[in-house]
Amino acid sequence: MVTSGILVCNMNYENPKIAEVAALLKERFNELQQKSDILKAPELKALYADIPLLDPSERSSFGQQINQLKNELTEMAKAANEASEVVESIDVTAPFDINTRLDQLPKLFSTELGGRHPLMTELDEILDIFYRMGFEAVESRQIDNEYYMFDSLNFPKDHPARDEYDTFITEDGYIAPAHTSVMQNRVLKSGKDQLEQGKPIAVVVPGRTFRNEDLDARHEHTFYQLEGVYVGKGVTVGNLIATLKEFMKAYYKRDVEIKTQPFYFPFTEPSFEFAISCPFCDKVGCSVCGEGWIELLGCGMIHPNVLKEAGIDPNVYTGFAWGVGFMRMAMIKYGIEDIRHFESAKLDFLRQFK
Ligand code: DAH
Repeated sequence: MVTSGILVCNMNYENPKIAEVAALLKERFNELQQKSDILKAPELKALYADIPLLDPSERSSFGQQINQLKNELTEMAKAANEASEVVESIDVTAPFDINTRLDQLPKLFSTELGGRHPLMTELDEILDIFYRMGFEAVESRQIDNEYYMFDSLNFPKDHPARDEYDTFITEDGYIAPAHTSVMQNRVLKSGKDQLEQGKPIAVVVPGRTFRNEDLDARHEHTFYQLEGVYVGKGVTVGNLIATLKEFMKAYYKRDVEIKTQPFYFPFTEPSFEFAISCPFCDKVGCSVCGEGWIELLGCGMIHPNVLKEAGIDPNVYTGFAWGVGFMRMAMIKYGIEDIRHFESAKLDFLRQFK
C-alpha cells in the first residue's frame, strides 16, 4: 500500500534543459489530481520542438532523453493510479453476504438492496416543514442526568410526576432521556443572547427517547420525539395553536381541525393535550382514529420557572413548547398498526417504504 501521494524519481538527465523540465514536471506531478495529465504538459511538448534547432550531432541523444523522461512520467502516472486503486476506502460496516467463503474477501451487498429507514424519511419531511417556518434543528442526546430530565424543568423534588416517566437510570445516576424536553434548558440558555438582540428562539429537537414500560402495539421502550421551543416577546397560546395546526396541515397534506384540552406538565402553564381531527374520515370515526379525533402531543406555555432557570426573564419574554411522538404521526399517516414494527428489523415491513 502506498501511504503518500508523493512519488520521487531518480533518473538523471545529462542535458541541463531536460533536467530542468524533468524537475519541474515531477514537482507538478505531486499536485495533480489526474496524474496522467502530466503527459500533456506544454513544457514536454516544447522539448520536442527544440530538436530541429539543435546541431545534428546532438539531436539523437536529446531525443532519447526526452523519450526517457516521457517514459518515466508514464510509469509514475501508472504507479500512482494503481496505488490509488489499492487505497480505495471500504466501508467496514457495510452489510456483506455471510455465505462468502472464508478464504475470500466478503462479497458486499449492493446498496440498491437497502433503503432509508422510514422514520428518517419522515423526520426529514418534518424538519423541512419547520425549516420553512423559520425553526432550526438541534439533535437531542441519548444519555443525560437528573438536572436536565427533571430539575431544570420545574419538577418538584420527589413529585410523583417524576415516576410517570418510567426512566431508565444507570447505577451511577445517569438517565436515558425519557423525553426530548431534556434539551429545553440547553436550547433556552444558548438562545438567550439572540433573544436579547430581538430575535426569537425557534428550535426543534428530534431525538431518541427511552421508557421502561410494558410493550404493546402503541408502546415501545425506544421511541422518537420531536420537541419544539419558541420564545420571544408577546408570544401567546394563539401562536402555539397556529404553529402546530399549520404543521399538521403541511404534514398530512390536508386541512385538519384541532382540539385542545387542559393537562398537567410541570414545565408548562397552562398545559394542553392537543388532538387533530382524523385526516382520513373527517371526524366520523374509522379504524385509524376510533372516534374521529387523534391525540397527538403535549404542549403549553413554557413555565416561568423554566425560563428563569435558563436566565430568561419571564416578565419580558414568553414562549411555548411541545413534544410529539413522531412515530405515532407516521403510523397514522401510513396506517401502521403496531409501533414495534419500526425497530423490528422486519424486511417485509421496511421494504414497503423503499
Ligand atoms: N415531554 C412531554 C412528554 O414526553 C411532552 C411535552 C409536553 C413536551 C409539553 C413539551 C411540552 O415541551 O411543553 O410527555
